[in-house]
Amino acid sequence: MKTYIKHNPWQIIEDTFRPEHNEFSESIFAIGNGRMGQRANFEEYFSGKSLQGSYLAGIYYPDKTRVGWWKNGYPEYFAKVINSFNWIGLDIAINGQRLDLAQVTVLSFERRLDMQRGVLQRSFVVRMHDGVEVKVEASRMYHLFASETASLQYQVQALTADVTIELTSFLDAEVVNRDSNYDEKFWEPLEQGQQGQNLFVSSRTKKTGFEVCAELETRVTGTDGVIEAGEIVSKDGYMAQRYTATVAKSHTLCVEKRVAIITSENHVAEKLRTVATGRLTDLRAFHFDQLKEKQAKAWQAIWDESDIEIFGDVAAQQAIRYNIFQLNQTYTGEDARLNIGPKGFTGEKYGGVTYWDTEAYCIPFYLATQTPEIARNLLLYRYQQLDKAIENAGKLGFSNGAALFPMVTINGEECHNEWEITFEEIHRNGAIAFAIYNYVRYTGDNDYIWSHGLDVLIAISRFWAQRVNWSTDKEQYVMLGVTGPNEYENNVNNNWYTNRIASWCLDYTLTCLRNCEKSRAEIFTALLARLKLTADEQNHWQHIIDKLYFPYDEKRKIFLQQDGFLDKELIPVQELDPSQRPINQKWSWDRILRSCYIKQADVLQGFYFLEEHFDEETLDRHFEFYEPLTVHESSLSPCVHAILAAKLGKTAKAYEFYLRTSRLDLDDYNNDTEDGLHITSMAGTWMTIVEGFAGMRVKDGRLYLNPMLPPEWKGYKFRILFRGATLLIAVYADFYTIENVSDTPAHIQTAAEVFVLAGHGTKQISQVR
Ligand code: BGC
Repeated sequence: MKTYIKHNPWQIIEDTFRPEHNEFSESIFAIGNGRMGQRANFEEYFSGKSLQGSYLAGIYYPDKTRVGWWKNGYPEYFAKVINSFNWIGLDIAINGQRLDLAQVTVLSFERRLDMQRGVLQRSFVVRMHDGVEVKVEASRMYHLFASETASLQYQVQALTADVTIELTSFLDAEVVNRDSNYDEKFWEPLEQGQQGQNLFVSSRTKKTGFEVCAELETRVTGTDGVIEAGEIVSKDGYMAQRYTATVAKSHTLCVEKRVAIITSENHVAEKLRTVATGRLTDLRAFHFDQLKEKQAKAWQAIWDESDIEIFGDVAAQQAIRYNIFQLNQTYTGEDARLNIGPKGFTGEKYGGVTYWDTEAYCIPFYLATQTPEIARNLLLYRYQQLDKAIENAGKLGFSNGAALFPMVTINGEECHNEWEITFEEIHRNGAIAFAIYNYVRYTGDNDYIWSHGLDVLIAISRFWAQRVNWSTDKEQYVMLGVTGPNEYENNVNNNWYTNRIASWCLDYTLTCLRNCEKSRAEIFTALLARLKLTADEQNHWQHIIDKLYFPYDEKRKIFLQQDGFLDKELIPVQELDPSQRPINQKWSWDRILRSCYIKQADVLQGFYFLEEHFDEETLDRHFEFYEPLTVHESSLSPCVHAILAAKLGKTAKAYEFYLRTSRLDLDDYNNDTEDGLHITSMAGTWMTIVEGFAGMRVKDGRLYLNPMLPPEWKGYKFRILFRGATLLIAVYADFYTIENVSDTPAHIQTAAEVFVLAGHGTKQISQVR
């Protein structure tokens, strides 16, 4: 753990230079705007620990698969969103010595992320080898108001003497990925040069052929006004302008850089340069301070819809805002080709690609904080990839339109290459179906089922129907050789969660078909004909639902995580020597697999998704059995446990899990934040407050609330968009209020009553759990 990030309600602050933790801080202070993003690398050269990373949404490279032993069915490549152009670079020499924080004396240092306004700031004072001291103040933004552009300001003040500053401002497309499987370069340069006073570089990704053009404007101002660029340096994929200035004691040299980065994902390749020039021209009328104002305004609009205020607990307040901030930096939702990588734009791990995390953890956040189109775009992403999912299942031997969505993907093709996950962690299909249900339940948009949802649901049902087999011994259907959400066990038989979600998928598909037949008979008939779905096939699905086997222990009255789970030595995590944790860093894989330790919610994931199917007593029994065996070594784990603990009234536990999920990165709980932030689990943090503490659900088309207040807090307040209404919900110790700040009436249910809250109406309720 690292606990040096200062607590502050709107800012993330690091006030000392810790070069040994620089990669951690580069992740923490990462910024982005949904289209692109970047780790908090320094502008000036740095020879210490650093992972340079700037990423463009959707720009990926198929990195050839590397495995020890090839297995039929493995994908050929791992598609990764790759490191792209470095536009921030400033090589600086002061009186001839390079400014490199690893080589000079750092007298003070501060990094500050202003989440309210979307600006990353850094300031430091250094003493150079010749004794002169300079102060640097830098600010950087990925513009939310113009998502193909970004800007920075970098000011160098001579503190103790006059200095000569030589400065090279560059744009570098010759970048590499640290995790490249075969040390390949992913980019090839196309064109570069000067465009008026600006520099431009265009490159193309190898194999995928994405073209990217970046145009860079640098403006250097000294005491006597603008300083003209001197020499231009041009190397393959790299362009730079050099400047020299003398800065008198206490005076400042100001550098501003603005960049437009335009990709063939969004524009025709021939036009990239023209568009780039146009984007920078659009910004020209504004000073840096005015750009900052535009940025603050754009962020304010986001906060107006999605802020959560926590009263009386600054650490918790900072954490929830950080999670909301990073989610909005990663995905803005207007483009259905994009998705949410588990690490967003903050590192190379997980390659910026899509996991079940989106459907299982992110959908609720976007449903409640944005208009329905945003979550719908996330569903459409999978819908558009349905053919590839059918192809993927085909490669594994499934037929008749059965679909297996990939464990990891960018364009619909499977990229994961560990057999126990690629072929066996098939529960992901269930989350994709559940997301459709979740979306329709929240928005009431039934049309989505008829227009898109049923195609996906039927294909997924066909997969489950072929994936189970009849056991003549049990006289029931079983599902063999799977990996559940708990990846610390592989190749198990009858993972309860997988069987349960499979059965739920079949049931939900049949329900949707029946509803479709009733309300949209013409669509129903056309669908059956197009997909050749017969009554026999549907009857077979019903037979599977009726006869699916679920491992169960009569004595303890619990569903077993899988066949044989009780043969394990069941020693609670609490009894483990702390020096042995996290077990994934301390134990051999073999030892982990044989142990009883659970990486993340598995049976309990099923209780979370399908809560209406179980009473609280049953939930409590399962929570008390499984949670003590859970090591929470996936970032996705604490949030689900927090929600269930809150439901069960286990307030202290819920709060403990809240802190763990919300400050997972800020305090580096899992000791891996240097690889990048855990973006998808941040949506889980939001769920912890809204679904966990506030008990928010949707029941019968109404927004249901049943809040509690963690004793550590004086109160909390959050905003929800629900079926056209915007609601402000504030929870205090003895009462809570629901304020409808929109014109649209909202249908609401509480523990005691059902009512309609008129537009601009407020209701106070005195029942807090
Ligand atoms: C978890 C998976 C998750 C992946 C990406 C893994 O550690 O076990 O459930 O999909 O991380 O976040």
